[in-house]
Amino acid sequence: MKLNLPLLWGTTSVLLCCCSCSLIQTPTPTPWPEQFHALLYMNLSTTRLQMSDLWYDWPRGRNVNIFQKQLGEVLYDVEWDNGTSYYYTLGEEGSCRVMHFEVGIPLPDFMEGAEYLGTQVTDGFLCYLWQKVDFIWYYEDVLTRRPVRWDFYDGISSHVMTYEVGAVLPDSVTQAPAYCFNQNINNDNNNKGNASNFF
Ligand SMILES: *[C@@H]1O[C@H](CO)[C@@H](O)[C@H](O)[C@H]1NC(C)=O
Ligand SMILES: *[C@@H]1O[C@H](CO)[C@@H](O)[C@H](O)[C@H]1NC(C)=O
Ligand SMILES: *[C@@H]1O[C@H](CO)[C@@H](O)[C@H](O)[C@H]1NC(C)=O
Repeated sequence: MKLNLPLLWGTTSVLLCCCSCSLIQTPTPTPWPEQFHALLYMNLSTTRLQMSDLWYDWPRGRNVNIFQKQLGEVLYDVEWDNGTSYYYTLGEEGSCRVMHFEVGIPLPDFMEGAEYLGTQVTDGFLCYLWQKVDFIWYYEDVLTRRPVRWDFYDGISSHVMTYEVGAVLPDSVTQAPAYCFNQNINNDNNNKGNASNFF
């Protein structure tokens, strides 16, 4: 379809022309800022809830989630760009699990190449919606271009409550505790206390 733009200019309002332009140009996801802090409200597929302090830091090569489980423990998830991730809790009953992944932290433009699915209102915001490889559905506010929500294929849904571009987590917070480096304690059974066995 080819629009006769001079005719539109001559006979209709500027608004109509702008609508036509946005129909022609498919929006693409805004890359993540190199450093930000977001507070996330997360609904897990198990129907359990948690808050997460997400500290994304591309220059430092780390991505940190500090999860507050609803009426439960605080779980640290410190991911490094070399593929090593530390999952730990602090305190006397602290436990740790170290994992190694093939890929590092998400690239700022990890949504590049996503399929545009149109606009949708979610959490009360008019959003652009994209999906990528049936793995993630990503909602971005049309007005401010901030992320509003993303859902993973497994049903975990994250809702962005605050979004501070440029905020950096102090390095001291990302130091995994000594017991992460002690293989004797790095035992999966230690990760489950009696309380979590209730659910
Ligand atoms: C969490 O997600 C489930 C499944 O999508 C939904 O049924 C439930 O209402 C959600 N709970 C909250 C508190 O948002
Ligand atoms: C990756 O980096 C972290 C943080 O510097 C370090 O603790 C970990 O040992 C590194 N992993 C590998 C496989 O080098
Ligand atoms: C749970 O409590 C029982 C009895 O109090 C104890 O024997 C068991 O080791 C505990 N299990 C864990 C995983 O802490």
